[in-house]
Amino acid sequence: MEAELNNILVTGATRGVGEALSLRFAGQGRKVFALARTSEQLDSLVERGGSNILPFAVDISDRDAVGVAVNEIESAHGGIDVLINNAGIVQNINFAEQSFDMMERIIDVNLKGTLYCTRHTVPFMIQRKRGRIINISSVAGVRGIPGQAAYCASKHGMNGFADALAQELMPHGIVVSSICPGGIDTPLWDKEKNPYPGDIEKVIKPGEIVDMVEFLLKQPSGTMYKRIVVFPTNEWH
Ligand SMILES: NC(=O)c1ccc[n+]([C@@H]2O[C@H](COP(=O)([O-])OP(=O)(O)OC[C@H]3O[C@@H](n4cnc5c(N)ncnc54)[C@H](OP(=O)(O)O)[C@@H]3O)[C@@H](O)[C@H]2O)c1
Repeated sequence: MEAELNNILVTGATRGVGEALSLRFAGQGRKVFALARTSEQLDSLVERGGSNILPFAVDISDRDAVGVAVNEIESAHGGIDVLINNAGIVQNINFAEQSFDMMERIIDVNLKGTLYCTRHTVPFMIQRKRGRIINISSVAGVRGIPGQAAYCASKHGMNGFADALAQELMPHGIVVSSICPGGIDTPLWDKEKNPYPGDIEKVIKPGEIVDMVEFLLKQPSGTMYKRIVVFPTNEWH
């Protein structure tokens, strides 16, 4: 029988998709290691999700801070069965107008943050010869979207990374999968500051992404779902 996948690290755990993942899994009695930067929002998540949520105030673009959190989880909390690389940021703006700071921040959080979390976690999974890694990428990882050039670069990077990593880790019993969604109804989109460049009324609900993650976790470790591309039917990617 497949070993249980009870200990789940979720990055970007406090809002949107990460919040929905954390609350669903904690409600199922799984242990959720919740990473995000803002302590107050982590506290609020724990208030709502209960003691199955263990908060870690970490900026995933700080590779040493990620290492400290992962080592603590591994030494004191039973280790990580599932890593969900979910934290991400976006700015919808023409590339020629985007600041260098924002361009770099998108790469640092979405791409380098994913690499750091994975690099710190994978050696422990290899030792145990088991584990799941699920990257929440984007349709911006499978095509170019004008207004999201740096974001597309980060998400294409995530997909290329997952493609190579999946092959490296298969012999160790570790499965790497990516979900590439179109628009999702989350606080990532702000009507004033960063509006969704499509019809916000028609986008995917965070719970649908959680359903997909649950589906992936139910598959036997001998089966590889490499990539799920999913988007609202008023769009095409
Ligand atoms: N919403 C969409 O339409 C959509 C579509 C396709 C793909 N996605 C992808 O889905 C993932 C989740 O997005 P979402 O829409 O749920 O975003 P969201 O609602 O904006 O939530 C982002 C989460 O990430 C955390 N975060 C941001 N920067 C971080 C950092 N440097 N270190 C650690 N945590 C950080 C935030 O908390 P703090 O700010 O407190 O750190 C928050 O918990 C992202 O990778 C995004 O690219 C979203």
